[in-house]
Amino acid sequence: MSKRYTITAALPYTNGPIHIGHLAGVYVPADIYARYKRLTGNDVAFICGSDEHGVPITIKAKKEGVSPQEIVDRYHKIIKASFEDFGITFDNYSRTSAKVHHDTASEFFKTLYDKGEFIEEVSEQLYDAEANQFLADRFVVGTCPKCGNEESYGDQCEKCGTSHNATDLINPKSAITGNVPSLKETKHWFLPLDKHEQFLKDWILKGHKKDWKPNVYGQVKSWIDDGLRPRAVTRDLDWGIPVPVPGGEGKVLYVWFDAPIGYISATKEWAARVGKDWTPYWKDEDTKLVHFIGKDNIVFHCIIFPAMLKAEGSYILPDNVPANEFLNLEGSKLSTSKNWAVWLHEYLVDFPNQQDVLRYALTANAPETKDNDFTWSDFQARNNNELVAIFGNFINRVVVLTNKYYEGHVPEPAVFSALDEETLAAVKAYPSVIESSLERYRFREGSQELMNLARLGNKYLADEEPWKLVKTDEARTKTIMYVALQIASALATLSEPFLPFTSAKLKNILCHTALDAESSWGEISTKDVLLPAGHHIGKGELLFSKIEDSEIQAQRDKLEASKVANDAANKVLEPQKETITFDDFTKLDIRVGTIPEAEKMPKTKKLLVLKVDTGIDVRTIVSGIAESFTP
Ligand code: 2FM
Ligand code: ZN
Repeated sequence: MSKRYTITAALPYTNGPIHIGHLAGVYVPADIYARYKRLTGNDVAFICGSDEHGVPITIKAKKEGVSPQEIVDRYHKIIKASFEDFGITFDNYSRTSAKVHHDTASEFFKTLYDKGEFIEEVSEQLYDAEANQFLADRFVVGTCPKCGNEESYGDQCEKCGTSHNATDLINPKSAITGNVPSLKETKHWFLPLDKHEQFLKDWILKGHKKDWKPNVYGQVKSWIDDGLRPRAVTRDLDWGIPVPVPGGEGKVLYVWFDAPIGYISATKEWAARVGKDWTPYWKDEDTKLVHFIGKDNIVFHCIIFPAMLKAEGSYILPDNVPANEFLNLEGSKLSTSKNWAVWLHEYLVDFPNQQDVLRYALTANAPETKDNDFTWSDFQARNNNELVAIFGNFINRVVVLTNKYYEGHVPEPAVFSALDEETLAAVKAYPSVIESSLERYRFREGSQELMNLARLGNKYLADEEPWKLVKTDEARTKTIMYVALQIASALATLSEPFLPFTSAKLKNILCHTALDAESSWGEISTKDVLLPAGHHIGKGELLFSKIEDSEIQAQRDKLEASKVANDAANKVLEPQKETITFDDFTKLDIRVGTIPEAEKMPKTKKLLVLKVDTGIDVRTIVSGIAESFTP
């Protein structure tokens, strides 16, 4: 039965491009799910956008000496293009700097304020006097009170995922100056999570959320069991959405207050564009709201945002939050700052038009229940041993033989053997087999079931050997090819969520659009014939090609270069001498000279002979710079 789905994918911070970790953890599974839901006839709003507020963006801007706006404009463009390049089919990819978002988030805040849902309180907060800055979120690091991680941020510990107030940190230090912060009074608005504890307990623990992934349910249960406390939802910063109530001047909304509301504003923006009403997607109890996120976002999507939605009162709550664990790269944590990553835009330069290979490798090895490792050798094996050797090989044989034997026409089958019947029945079962995996958010399993269908086809052809029978038994050969073509057609449709580019190519080769009713997901189970006898298919084209060892080695070399650069950057050099005083420094006579003449020292490679005019005299200096400077 058709249903309405609001599917969201975490809004990425626009402080850098996106890499394979983002794709594997959030965007590929979300896209598989959204495509699958559309293919099975549902009404889907698949929503995302750039998260353009928050401290990470301010920090990046400061580092580069540019405005935060310049940073978000740059990365919004790059990120949006990467998503398009990888076939992520958002119905809307918005941004939190959009007016509709500022309006929606302000209105949401005002509603909670008017309903008395906040505690307004002046309290002492961490302050860096040298930087003249209150220290919230990533502006402060210290020891996590829950797990002891010494590099926890002010609002969240990335190690254990706990969200806390900056004043909870043990031994806090300013991330701007390294100073130990002082305390200074300031007013903020707090969301009393403790007030919503009972609701959260009933909704998550006693409700039906036991079907949530164990990693998600377990974390949420442990936080609730530990007891919830009020959380500040405003900040003393100048980058963000202004606090829209009296006394809020010079303050902005906490990024984790505004960002999830971004899902709502992006839905509004989309609905206005396509002439729809946005409200059922967020307010109709029949809508299924699903948030795809990484594990570091669990607390915000399973506790804070639901508490906000509940406090507001007119919104639905998420049906599921299928958070993934983290993906590592060749045994180490993915890191933007250390350039330990495979960047999507760079991948496409090295592997043009091979988006599906990466989508497949990341799905087949997705960090669904535990952190997982991406290795280039696994990537190569997934491509060469599965996509090329099974899927591609099967399709290639079917298409080439159909063209060779029947000039591209689907042959008329004769009598089906028991194996044919069994094979056709197995094909019919595949939509529900894959559905059963996707309904449980088991995308790895789903991708393997798809490959099993290709495997079935490959084995069927290998066992039946039509290329041998064609010489002796024309009728049997036709039947075999007919059965194989039905499998190929099912693969074209069922691969769409996982391998969208391949699916489009294959549908084109099989001329799906020329069919009376284009083969759909549901019809695979109900129709006896997917490609009727007489239907004409096109010429073959290779769906996948082998990835050579040299290509893989080039990727490993790239990573090795990052490692070398990191080691060099992190090398701590012992000071060779005491730092001199300023008085000592003023004793030096440092001059800028002019070089009126320079020439190569004869018979040497490296030496230049320079005349240097110091203003007092002109002296001759021989310098070993000839390989870098011409005279
Ligand atoms: O972790 C992140 O990258 C956040 N920008 C995710 C935000 S998700 C949502 F709530 F908007
Ligand atoms: Zn911790």
